[in-house]
Amino acid sequence: MAKYALVTGSGRGIGFGIAKRLTEDGYHVYTTDYDQRLATAAADKLGGTPLQLNVSDPESVREAASQVPELGLLVNSAGIYPFSALLEIPLEQFQRVFGVNVGGNLWCMQAFHPQLKADGRGAIVNITSMSALVPAVGVGSYAASKAAAAMLTAQAAIEFAPDGIRVNAVAPGSVQTEGTNRAINDGDEPDKAPLIPLGRLASPEDIASVVSFLASKDARYVTGQNIVVDGGYLNNTFALYRQAAHGDPNAIVGGRAQ
Ligand SMILES: NC(=O)c1ccc[n+]([C@@H]2O[C@H](COP(=O)([O-])OP(=O)(O)OC[C@H]3O[C@@H](n4cnc5c(N)ncnc54)[C@H](O)[C@@H]3O)[C@@H](O)[C@H]2O)c1
Repeated sequence: MAKYALVTGSGRGIGFGIAKRLTEDGYHVYTTDYDQRLATAAADKLGGTPLQLNVSDPESVREAASQVPELGLLVNSAGIYPFSALLEIPLEQFQRVFGVNVGGNLWCMQAFHPQLKADGRGAIVNITSMSALVPAVGVGSYAASKAAAAMLTAQAAIEFAPDGIRVNAVAPGSVQTEGTNRAINDGDEPDKAPLIPLGRLASPEDIASVVSFLASKDARYVTGQNIVVDGGYLNNTFALYRQAAHGDPNAIVGGRAQ
C-alpha cells in the first residue's frame, strides 16, 4: 500500500534531505516550498509530487491540502532565521518569523489533520532548533519562535492523540546547508565544529534519520517530544565557559570526526 508524506520547505536544505530519506523509506513525497521552482526541482529528483505553498498563509495551505487526498506523515521543516539584536527587531520581521516558524506549523497541522486522522496511524514531525532550549545573543525572535513551536508540538500531541496522530519535533544543532556554509564563509556565524563533541556540524541526513525513526512504527509510543540532534553541543557548555573565561585550549573536547 502506498505511503504518502508531505515535507514543507523541501526545496532545499534540511527539508530536501528529509524528503530524500523518506523517499528511500518508501514514501511518495509531496515536496512543497514557497518557491515553486525549488519544489518542482526536488520532486523531479525524487520522483515526488511538487506543491507550491506559503506555510504562513492559512489559505495557501488549505488550497494545497485540497490537492492531497491521502497523507500518513507531515513534516514541517519550512523556517526562516533572520538574526538581529532584540533592540533592533522591526515589527515586520517579528511577525514574519512567528508567522512562518509558529503559524506555519499550526496552519499545516490544521489543514492536513483530516488526512492524517483518516490514515489511522498519522504522524507529524516539526523541525524546531536547539535555539528552542537555550538563548543566544543576536538570534532575534528566532529562539522564542522555536520555543513556541516546541510547545505547539507538545500541545498538538495531546489534542491529536485520540485521532491516532503522534506529534513530535526534532531540534537540530548546527546543520551544514548552503545557508550555514555561506554564513560561516561570510563571517556572520562562527564555525562551531571545534566545539561540538562529535567533531562536526550535522548533515541534513543526520536530521532526516531521526525524522525517519519518529515516523516509523518503532516510535509508536513516542509523542510530544522535542528531540535534540546536536552532536552533544548543548551539553558542552562547561567547555565553552572554560575556553571563554580562561582561553583553555584543552577545554575543547570536540574534533573527532565521525
Ligand atoms: N540550518 C541549520 O543549521 C538549522 C539549525 C536548526 C534548525 N533549523 C531549522 O530547520 C529548518 C530548515 O532549515 P534550512 O537550514 O534547511 O533552511 P533553508 O533556508 O535552507 O530552507 C528552507 C526552505 O523553506 C522554504 N520556505 C521559507 N519560507 C517558507 C514559507 N513561508 N512557506 C513555504 N516554504 C518556505 C524556503 O524556500 C527554503 O526552500 C528551519 O525550520 C530551520 O529553522 C536549521
